[in-house]
Amino acid sequence: MIRDIEKILISRERIAERVDEIAAAMSRDFAREMAGLSEREQEGQIVLIPVLTGSIVFVADLIRRLPIKLSLGLVAVSSYPGKSMESKGVIMRSELPKNLAGKHVVIVDDILDSGQTLHLIKRLVEEQRPASIRLCVLLRKPGKATVKVDADYVGFDIPDEFVVGYGLDYDGFYRNYPEVATLRSEAR
Ligand code: IMP
Ligand code: MG
Repeated sequence: MIRDIEKILISRERIAERVDEIAAAMSRDFAREMAGLSEREQEGQIVLIPVLTGSIVFVADLIRRLPIKLSLGLVAVSSYPGKSMESKGVIMRSELPKNLAGKHVVIVDDILDSGQTLHLIKRLVEEQRPASIRLCVLLRKPGKATVKVDADYVGFDIPDEFVVGYGLDYDGFYRNYPEVATLRSEAR
């Protein structure tokens, strides 16, 4: 795996610092939304929806920095079947969690590229009438969006290069590489 890596774009230290900051911002926003509610009323109000598979590493780090009661509702999609590096449209691979009505929902993904994935999931979540919906992504490629999607929490803006690591894959591999990196051309 290591020999396929070309260059590290974002080190594990920078990722860890940024995840701390995002968790702090998210906690403040939840605190504001929950202000005035009793402990009892707050219960079950916060649902994070990690988009599988790319968000697993990010969401695992993020939730351990959120000192609040929350639940997870996973959703699986695929947008890059096999060795493709271009979004070929989004296919839902699982149903959305139910009972999001009245909840504070945060959809978490690895990267905002064309925006197709988050646009679709957000629209489906909206149909259930949650109290709020926010989007959280580790990475964003500015200028790439083909549909308008605003993320509320963004880890890093990166150049339009194909990256792997910290959950992001190429053909299913490299998700376990701990930093965000580009791949050597021989590996693609
Ligand atoms: P979008 O629907 O085009 O915004 O793409 C989102 C999905 O495409 C992400 O959840 C990733 O799984 C995948 N993706 C986009 N850019 C990259 C990349 O540079 N490396 C790995 N996966 C990517
Ligand atoms: Mg993916």
